[in-house]
This record gives sequence, structure tokens and C-alpha cells, in this order.
Amino acid sequence: MQKNTWVLFDLDGTLTRSEEGIWNCARYALERMDRPVPDNETLRKFIGPPLVWSFRNLCGMTEEEALEAQRIYRERYNTVGLLENRVYPGIRNALCRLRKAGAHLGVVTGKPAAPTGRILEHFGLDRFFGKVLCATDNKADKEQMIRAALPEDAAEAWMVGDRKYDMEGGRRAGIHTLGVTYGYGSEAELLEAGAEKLAGSPREIADILCPEAGEVPGAFLSMEGLDGSGKGTQLERLADTLDRYGFEVIRTREPGGTPIGEKIREILLDRENAAMTDETEALLYAAARAQLVREVIRPAVRSGRVILCDRFVDSSAAYQGGGRQMGIEKILEINRPAVDGTMPDLTVYLEIGHRKALERRCAASEPDRLEMEAENFHARVEEGYHRLMEMDPDRFAAVNAEGDREAIAAEIAEKVLARLLEAEH
Ligand code: TMP
Repeated sequence: MQKNTWVLFDLDGTLTRSEEGIWNCARYALERMDRPVPDNETLRKFIGPPLVWSFRNLCGMTEEEALEAQRIYRERYNTVGLLENRVYPGIRNALCRLRKAGAHLGVVTGKPAAPTGRILEHFGLDRFFGKVLCATDNKADKEQMIRAALPEDAAEAWMVGDRKYDMEGGRRAGIHTLGVTYGYGSEAELLEAGAEKLAGSPREIADILCPEAGEVPGAFLSMEGLDGSGKGTQLERLADTLDRYGFEVIRTREPGGTPIGEKIREILLDRENAAMTDETEALLYAAARAQLVREVIRPAVRSGRVILCDRFVDSSAAYQGGGRQMGIEKILEINRPAVDGTMPDLTVYLEIGHRKALERRCAASEPDRLEMEAENFHARVEEGYHRLMEMDPDRFAAVNAEGDREAIAAEIAEKVLARLLEAEH
């Protein structure tokens, strides 16, 4: 990539997937005006062109009616609609790679400045972009905006977008064009409008524009807690939040996460294996982990993905080290070759008293072999986790898991996002 290269991105359909908010607001405006709501196919066409055009041409309104519909639409859009939005998974990493290659980044969008600013800020994308050009007075001439975004001395420039407006604007402004086929325009539309290159995913944008820059690593996150801490639900919620923010999330679990690891899991959780010695158990967990680290975690993190792991070595330290009284240090020692230095960047610990956790477990399902262990076993596991947090306080984010699910999910999201977004800059 040449020095002083600029890469300009369209927003809707290229950086973010805004359909949920756009459709909800279009529906809201039509319902408020007592107009029939068109089918989804027609609603889809609202993405891209100016609103007034859409209300006139897709819903048969007069200019005046369309202006009124736009006013009502914006009323909802500017408060809730604009955040009913998702950053395409992989966008963050692609931006990091482009920036690493030395590119200057910008946004050129048909959206007005206020919602654009709020969306970029909400998702922590604003810090990537040196220039943000938005529509003014409902006018969105992409060619003009592209010209305005680029400095005189730009050596090379690309317009990246998902609709013909982006490709045509780029061509008229005399810059290169890259069409993304994961957005709202079809491949045919993009090619017809003169797209020079096509990318099928955010990752491909960086592969095409800066193949020499190499990968920017992602992150390794784990979640820990006693059985009954609500870990399953919270993992689900966190994965969705990270996906919404444009991280490429890979969920995995321990013991398991690989074909070999899943077989080891069956042996470990089988109620019939009552004769299993503590040492065998600890070594089997370590064996499954050795496989997961090499087969899944390392390759994913190296290629920019975010690994979200349901339990990791802390579980062994707490359950086998604390619960089975084998000693935390001994368990960490056994696991040293398995983990081989690959530790989570952040571990969320769901804090719940062992008695409360037991109550929840009994209400949920029939317990498996480990879940049937005596109450003081779980008391020792809880104590083990507390020791681990004291040993490595920076790695852990403890969250009180006894309260309301929504509030817990929000606190976890806040803590994890703070860490991940900080690491990007
Ligand atoms: P899960 O129900 O959260 O998937 O966990 C399976 C059980 O395995 C749970 O009771 C905790 C236990 N376990 C250990 O004892 N040591 C370990 O290293 C791991 C990963 C899990």
C-alpha cells in the first residue's frame, strides 16, 4: 500500500447492518400516518436511497407526505432506531489491519451527521476515522463528499461501499472502487456501477487492499463460575453483544471444543466413571485443554478472531486444585505444558455464593457426576476461585451473578468491551 493512501467507507450496509432500525422506523412512520406497511422486500429497498425518495417511490406518497413521513421516521430513528444496528463481524479487525498498513480511513455516508456520529461513537468506531463526511440538507452527493473527504496530496484512494451510489460516486471522483457483496446491493448492481474489486466479507476488504500488512491478533476471553452461576446464559448474551460490535466471535468450551476434547469430556462427565482417580481427572482436563489451545484458540486469535471460552485452566485450578484438594499450584504445574503460555486476556468470573448456586442447580436439571459432589466441595471451589483472583487480579473481571440477568449481562458487556476497545488503540 502506498504512503498516504485513503480508504473511504460507506456506513449503512458496509460498516454497519442497519436494517433492524431502518425497518422499524419506516414501519413506525407508515403506521402513524395510517398507510399500509409494504412487504419486507419493499422495506429492504429503504436502505441506501434518501428517505423522501423511498417514501415517494416505494410507498406512493406525494412530496409533502414523504417529508412528513421522514419527520416521523427521524423522531424514532434519532432516539432508538439508530442503535438498533450491528457492526458487520470482522469490520473492527479489517480496520485495524488497514490502519496497521498505514492507510488513512474515512466515512462517506448519506446519513446526516448527528446519527452518524452517535452510531460511530456508540460502537467505538469513531477513533478509526480521520474524516467523516455526511449528508447535509438531505443532499447526499457521494462524488462531492468523496472529493471533500480527500486531501490534495492523497496518493491513492478507495471508495468501499455496498450500493451503486458508492461505486458511481467513487468513479466520478476519480478514485478506485471496491464493492462489498455482504451488504444491501447485489454483485450485479456493483459490477454494473463499475466496481473494480469485490469483497465478500470485511476480512476480504483488508485482504484485497493491504495483503502485505499481515494479521492483527484478536483476543482470548474466558468465563468462569460455579455450576449454577448462570454462565450459559451470560455467555450467549456476551457473544451476541460482541458480534453486534463487529468482533468475529468464536465460542468454545472446556472440557471439549475439539473432536478429541469432546470425547474426553464424555469420559469426564460420565456418571459410570466413579472409579476415576483425581490425578486421572486432572490430567484428562489438561489433555483436552492442550488440544483446544493448539487446534482452536491460537489459530483463531492469531487471525483476529475473539475466542469466548466457557471455562479454562482456572476451572481446573478451582475444581481439582480447590474442590478435590490437589492444590492450586500442583494443578497449575500439571497444566503448564497444556497451556504453554496461552492465557486469557480477560476472564469474567460470575460471582455467586456456593449455596445459592446449589439452589439454582437443583431447580434446573438432574445433576451430573461432578454436580453431585458434596456442598463443601463447591465451597472449596468457590474459595479456589477467590485465590486465583488474588493471584492474578488484572486478568479477572468479577461480576456479581446473583441479581437480575439483564443487569448482569450489561455489566459484563461494559467490562469486556472496555478492555477490547482499549486494546484496539
Ligand atoms: P460446565 O457444566 O460448565 O460445562 O462444566 C462441566 C464441569 O466440569 C463443571 O462441573 C466443572 C468441571 N470442570 C472441572 O472440574 N475442571 C476443569 O478443568 C473444567 C474445564 C471443568
